[in-house]
Amino acid sequence: MENILRTDCISQRFGGVKALTDISLSIPKGRIFSIIGPNGAGKTTFFNAISGLAAPVAGKVFFEEEEITGLKSFQIQQRGISRTFQNIRLFPEMSVKENVIVGDHSRSTKSIFNSVLRTKTYKETEKQMEAEAERWMSFFGLYHLRHQNPTSLPYGLQRKLEIARAMVSDPTLLLLDEPAAGMNEAETIELRNDILKLSELGTTILLIEHDMKFVMSLSDHIAVLNHGCLLKVGTPKEILEDELVIDAYLGTEVDL
Ligand SMILES: Nc1ncnc2c1ncn2[C@@H]1O[C@H](COP(=O)(O)OP(=O)(O)O)[C@@H](O)[C@H]1O
Ligand SMILES: [Mg+2]
Repeated sequence: MENILRTDCISQRFGGVKALTDISLSIPKGRIFSIIGPNGAGKTTFFNAISGLAAPVAGKVFFEEEEITGLKSFQIQQRGISRTFQNIRLFPEMSVKENVIVGDHSRSTKSIFNSVLRTKTYKETEKQMEAEAERWMSFFGLYHLRHQNPTSLPYGLQRKLEIARAMVSDPTLLLLDEPAAGMNEAETIELRNDILKLSELGTTILLIEHDMKFVMSLSDHIAVLNHGCLLKVGTPKEILEDELVIDAYLGTEVDL
C-alpha cells in the first residue's frame, strides 16, 4: 500500500514532559486513518509536528516521500497538508465566505501582493479564490450563509466552516482534530457523511476523535497513543480486541 505520510521516530518535549516518544507511523494514501488515546496522550502534538506548528525535537516527517521536518506551516500547506484545530479558530469579525477564503494562504498572499501592484494576476487570483470558496461552501451547505458572521452559526456549522476553510487550499491530506467534539447526534451523522464524501473525492483523512462509535465506523486503520507512546496500530476490529488498548483507554464497556 502506498503511503502519503510517514513519520520516522518523532519525539516532542515540553520542558520535562515527553509529549511524544519515537512515533513511527505510516499513513496509507486515500484512506481514513484515526488516532485515539486519552487526554494528554500527544495526539494534537502529533498533528502540530506534522503540520509545522511545532517541529519535533527528534525524528523525521516525510510527505509524498519528501522530508518536510522543520518546514513552516504555510510551506507544508502548499505541499498539500491542511488541518483544523481542536478549538475552533474562526475570525468573528469576518463573514463566512471571508473565513473560508483565508484558508488559501498561498493564493491570498499572492493576491495581497498583486493588489498593491494592481496587476491582472490580482483579478485572476481573486476569481480563483472565490470559485474555490464557493465550491467548498456549497459542499458543506454553507453557501446561503456566506454573508453571515460565523458566530451566528450553530456549533456544527462552525466546525464545518473550519473544514471548508481547510479544503480551499486543495489538500491531499486533511488533518481533523476532534471535529465532532461538542456536536449533537444529528450534526455528528452529517459530519460523518461529509468525511466519507471527502474521502471518496480522494482526500486522505487523518482524524483525531474521542467518539468511539464515530471512529470505529469511519476508519480503515487506527493508531492508539498513550503517554506519548504508540501503543498499537490496527483495524477497528483489532483495536477493539486488544487487551492493552482496553486497559489503557477503552475500559471494558465499549458500547457500539
Ligand atoms: N505547548 C505546550 N507546552 C507545554 N506542554 C504542552 C504543550 N502542548 C502540549 N503539551 C503537553 O503535552 C502532552 C500532550 O498534549 P496533547 O498533544 O495536547 O494531547 P492530546 O491531544 O492527546 O490530548 C500533555 O501533557 C500536554 O500538557
Ligand atoms: Mg488534543
